[in-house]
Amino acid sequence: MSDNLTADARTVLVVDDEPANVTSLRKIFEREGFRVLTAESAKRALELARQHKVEVVLTDLMMPGTSGLELMRALKQVHPDLEVVMMTAYGTVETAVQAMRDGAYDFVEKPLKRMTIVKTVRKAAERQSLLAENRSLKSQLRSLTQRPIVGSSPALRRVLDVAHQAAPSNATVLVLGESGTGKELLARTIHAHSGRADGPFVAVNCSAIPESILEAELFGHERGAFTGANERREGRFAKARGGTLFLDEIGELSPAVQVKLLRVLQEGEFEPIGGDTQSADVRIVAATNKDLQAEVQNGTFREDLFYRLNVIAITAPPLRTRREDIPLLVDHFLGIYCAKNGRSRLTAPREVLDRLQEYRWPGNVRELENVIERAVVLCRGDKLSLDDLPDTIIDAREDQTSVITVAVGTPLDEVERRLLRETLRHAGGDKSVAAQMLGISTRTIYRKLADGDS
Ligand SMILES: Nc1ncnc2c1ncn2[C@@H]1O[C@H](COP(=O)(O)OP(=O)(O)OP(=O)(O)O)[C@@H](O)[C@H]1O
Ligand SMILES: [Mg+2]
Repeated sequence: MSDNLTADARTVLVVDDEPANVTSLRKIFEREGFRVLTAESAKRALELARQHKVEVVLTDLMMPGTSGLELMRALKQVHPDLEVVMMTAYGTVETAVQAMRDGAYDFVEKPLKRMTIVKTVRKAAERQSLLAENRSLKSQLRSLTQRPIVGSSPALRRVLDVAHQAAPSNATVLVLGESGTGKELLARTIHAHSGRADGPFVAVNCSAIPESILEAELFGHERGAFTGANERREGRFAKARGGTLFLDEIGELSPAVQVKLLRVLQEGEFEPIGGDTQSADVRIVAATNKDLQAEVQNGTFREDLFYRLNVIAITAPPLRTRREDIPLLVDHFLGIYCAKNGRSRLTAPREVLDRLQEYRWPGNVRELENVIERAVVLCRGDKLSLDDLPDTIIDAREDQTSVITVAVGTPLDEVERRLLRETLRHAGGDKSVAAQMLGISTRTIYRKLADGDS
């Protein structure tokens, strides 16, 4: 490389099996202020592309061994955003057109004309930098729109601490937890705080994809690899290159796919169906609401895979174990859904929050989010009311007599009143049973009830 380069010089990689061509192209582009890398084979070109940042590749189409077309596909796996310009000899224009269909930026015919080739490579470099800038703006936008994790309970804070500690490493993370507890949100947070934040976050829901096509979906396939494979397709492992692959509902993987995934985790490589081995440059975050350890015990989940995935385990706590987060979450979702519905900001009065804090939330935060979205749509005033809550929550209260939840700061006489009322209901309305349960005399309970009524 020459010395008089500006800091932001673009790198062009010249690939040709003719040493004389390589030498003259190097001179041309160095004079134009490019950094120049050269290779006399596709294999060497791939090595260089792995080690250096390359913006444009100028490659001969016909080379012994790997053709320019195959090289382009391999290069795009390494750097999806680099641009490729093909050099074609007379009579191979058909193939060059095919190359453009496959994603080449342009082609130039041999014998090369200096002006043409410089102009084409310059344009390719401009396009590359536009696309790269576009991608980086998108990723900034993503981090702005990234939903925050709301909550200040100790249970949630512990989990966030582990997530933030684990994020910068490349270690595989297994996120456990009931449905709706925020497993995907945690996975996205781990990605956003990792060195791969600018790379893609690719989510695969293993239970939503039919088993028969999951392997092709994950690893990709070559054209003609099986009946119906009319096109070559990249799998999710390739799409997540440089970023994070989120394997959701991992407990649903079939034994066959479990074996394949284990291999990727062990070797750091994968094979598209009918294709060549590729390196797997992804960070894996997996999630499940199943008890994976139990699945291992009963033989439905491979033990070796479990240990590979379980390098760092994070369990998202159920909402009912951190009810103190409910008011914050309610406020957060009110903000989101009032804005979405174009209405002024609603608030949730104490009695509504009490009711929400008493509920068991089997569907966790997702259920709460749905309840608030619904309430925002239904609400007629400027405050939520109990009428805006679904029957499931109002009715559930009738069966749920063994627990009352009180918010910190609730006045004592109100706590007493609610405790009395709930205990009485639990006792089926029998005042002497209720009094026994509360450790007070029947006379006292009568008096307190009378006070409460006045
Ligand atoms: N702590 C939180 N703060 C704010 N929003 C949250 C929080 N936890 C979850 N959510 C929201 O609740 C919804 C459900 O979360 P998410 O999809 O991450 O849960 P999950 O555990 O992956 O659920 P499932 O097991 O059903 O796939 C999402 O809309 C998410 O943004
Ligand atoms: Mg999920």
